Amino acid sequence: MISVFSICIVLGSMCVSLFSAEAEITVSGQVGSTAVLPCELQSVGTETPHIRWRIDSETVFERLGEDTYQGEGYEGRVDVPEEELRKGNCSLVLHNLTLTDAGVYTSYQTVRRTKRSDSVIPKRKEISRVKLSVQEKPPEKRTEIPTGEIHLCVSLPAKQI
Ligand SMILES: *[C@@H]1O[C@H](CO)[C@@H](O)[C@H](O)[C@H]1NC(C)=O
Ligand SMILES: *[C@@H]1O[C@H](CO)[C@@H](O)[C@H](O)[C@H]1NC(C)=O
Repeated sequence: MISVFSICIVLGSMCVSLFSAEAEITVSGQVGSTAVLPCELQSVGTETPHIRWRIDSETVFERLGEDTYQGEGYEGRVDVPEEELRKGNCSLVLHNLTLTDAGVYTSYQTVRRTKRSDSVIPKRKEISRVKLSVQEKPPEKRTEIPTGEIHLCVSLPAKQI
């Protein structure tokens, strides 16, 4: 009975994720530019929000107050500015886009519920899901060669006098 039940849960959550995948936001940017992945907290408490952005199952960025973590490959390029987060704006700023940054990013808020016992049960809530697409830079225009400087090398057949 338990396995049938868990299959139902798996199928159910697959349907939910398929459904919610349609509602995701798409952000696009060019290689080397900066992308802002939107995210907004529904309520801002007195507690400093604990926010985490993930791609697949890897953490891209995490902030709890002043403490931050930048995921592998994202070092020095990602941030959720603290002053914005205090206002409830959990948007992820991603600088210097690369083609490999493309993917679906999900933001989570972790809410700690302290019980009377020592156990702290963190509750993770998904906030937004953003699809990032990265385009290659358009090829640079070849304006360096002014037409007057094009040398034509034509070898003429030697005329016989
Ligand atoms: C949220 O934060 C991002 C990045 O810091 C910023 O670009 C955006 O304008 C902010 N949005 C609002 C509504 O303040
Ligand atoms: C952006 O990426 C390029 C190429 O990978 C690198 O040379 C440059 O230092 C990076 N800039 C920043 C601000 O990370």
